[in-house]
Amino acid sequence: MKISVIGCGYLGAVHAAAMAHLGHSTVGVDVDPAKVEALTQGQAPFFEPGFPELLQESLGSGQLSFTLAPAPEELAQVDLHFIAVGTPQSEDGKAANLSYVEAALEMILQAIPEQRKAQASAQEPATVIVGKSTVPVGTASRLAARAAEEGALLLWNPEFLREGFAVADTLHPDRLVYGLPDDPLAARAGQAALDQVYAPLLAEGIERLTMNYPTAELVKVAANSFLATKISFINAMAELCEATGGNVTELAEAIGYDERIGSKFLRAGVGFGGGCLPKDIRAFMARAQELGVEDAVSFLRDVDAINQRRRDRVVSESLKALGGSAQGKRVAVLGAAFKPNSDDIRDSPALEVAARLAEAGARVQISDPQALAGVAARHPELVCCPDPYEALEGAQLVLLLTEWSDFLQLDPLRAASCVAQAQIIDGRNALDPAAWEAAGWSYAGLGR
Ligand code: UGA
Repeated sequence: MKISVIGCGYLGAVHAAAMAHLGHSTVGVDVDPAKVEALTQGQAPFFEPGFPELLQESLGSGQLSFTLAPAPEELAQVDLHFIAVGTPQSEDGKAANLSYVEAALEMILQAIPEQRKAQASAQEPATVIVGKSTVPVGTASRLAARAAEEGALLLWNPEFLREGFAVADTLHPDRLVYGLPDDPLAARAGQAALDQVYAPLLAEGIERLTMNYPTAELVKVAANSFLATKISFINAMAELCEATGGNVTELAEAIGYDERIGSKFLRAGVGFGGGCLPKDIRAFMARAQELGVEDAVSFLRDVDAINQRRRDRVVSESLKALGGSAQGKRVAVLGAAFKPNSDDIRDSPALEVAARLAEAGARVQISDPQALAGVAARHPELVCCPDPYEALEGAQLVLLLTEWSDFLQLDPLRAASCVAQAQIIDGRNALDPAAWEAAGWSYAGLGR
């Protein structure tokens, strides 16, 4: 098929390369000239394991290209368009900003030739447009009505990929969700189009679930809300452990043996961040309020608050460890990305803690295997150290805030020889306390 992917961020760029890998002739579209240029050269504009290889393979096969502004004639030849642009938190509130999604839709609709619009029917729409961006429930129905005015069929196909595993999650997702229109003829045409796109995945036995628009939109936010709730639940238990002398790591392991609970996503620590979980739960609350059902998701306010309190806790424990004031002290922060295997610093707990300690007067020496370029650009007050041992130099306190394997492999003895004071706060409960204590460190985990 001829496919376009509008928006080439973490989601769209990987999706475009994956579509080409599946054999579709694919064009990726983005408004950022630097991004388009890099992708065209086969260079990933962000760190994502396995993506450069997939990108180069797809470019090499001649099936993939990128463009800033596709000509309408070019867009008109496309069989199916994916919209994969961002829906960031709006500047003036918690709701999602849908302007990029709306602009992408209009660009596609404007390119449809008049004659094709006139001949369009439910079975044979003028073009097929598939939304992948995370949107407030109700958006797909509204945009589908707009698309129908131009003879186009809109479908919603939410994406569940995790950064750091984006390639595997795109090519081997655990499920495909199709949000389809109520009209049975249009739904059949839409399902057939998506089945054709994903034929190799379906042949592999990947589950395909069909449902109406609001359910598909809700599946996405419900999944992210559940994940956020699971993390905040265990972090709430960490608060109780802190108040009682309990150990949250042992607690999580013990409850995780119950298969109904499961052990994944129960790592207590400095909490969740990134471009998805925090903004998605806020947008969900904002949308529920508009719908008059805010009580149904009012618990998400607590999920958000518990998550924010973890950052506060690391800051206050740090100040305590520094003798009450950070002024003039050296603090080593290991980690800047919101999670390992990513260079994404959006709403990163690690970076927020680092910036707050710098604001409190500390000289913060920060290390991260991939995120330092972003840190240097946005936080000139932080001292960037590519080598983690360099970050430890002269530090009175060390914070582990992103559990990169590079940091988990640090030698506690060598680390102790670099610092001024061997005290570490493990904000991810990822280190072996016994090994660090044996090397002379004073070790504190969160919630244990
Ligand atoms: C999340 C979802 O996991 C994906 O399924 C979804 O597609 C994506 O958002 C999205 O909406 O696009 P992602 O943001 O890449 O993916 O990150 P996660 O792996 O979910 O981690 C989120 C945060 O939770 C990280 O800051 C991580 O450190 C933290 N976390 C995770 C914990 O604090 N404890 C855990 O046990 C697990």
